[in-house]
Amino acid sequence: MAPIGERMAKALNEQVKWELFSSYLYLSMSAYFSAAKLPGFAHWMRVQAQEELMHGMKIYDFVIERGGRAELLAIDKPRFEWGSPLEVAKAVYDHEKKVTGLINGLVDLATEEKDHATLNMLQWFVEEQVEEEANASEIVEKLKMVSGERGIGVLYMLDRDLGERPPKLQPVVSAK
Ligand code: FEO
Repeated sequence: MAPIGERMAKALNEQVKWELFSSYLYLSMSAYFSAAKLPGFAHWMRVQAQEELMHGMKIYDFVIERGGRAELLAIDKPRFEWGSPLEVAKAVYDHEKKVTGLINGLVDLATEEKDHATLNMLQWFVEEQVEEEANASEIVEKLKMVSGERGIGVLYMLDRDLGERPPKLQPVVSAK
């Protein structure tokens, strides 16, 4: 198979940066929840942070496997403070929608380049984004019910549920 094209490799390196930024952002959100004494939410975001790192590694490994040069780009400092758990959940949902747009852009480029191997690899991400958006949206909707005194009970119930969510992790050492 021909090595990956320069334009495609550059775009995938850019995506590795976004996946790692997502990991950094979600870890920052996890720290926010830890400080807010919501360990279940902190666990949820920590698991998300690990998954994003795995996403980045998947693309990083792919670039190398295709004979490209994996170039690591600078990662921005993520946001540090939020006004409420609902604001965080909304930010997760918005961020996932942005990532979906980036993945779709990569699909368009791979189509243009007639790069079938990259298209095939990206299919996993297309499906993953459907799930990620649905999960974030579900938590936004649940948190919208949290208001007033009875809302506190709902918040703690949700915190307990999220704390029990098992990580859907695959090893980061090898994405194969
Ligand atoms: Fe890697 Fe949540 O997108």
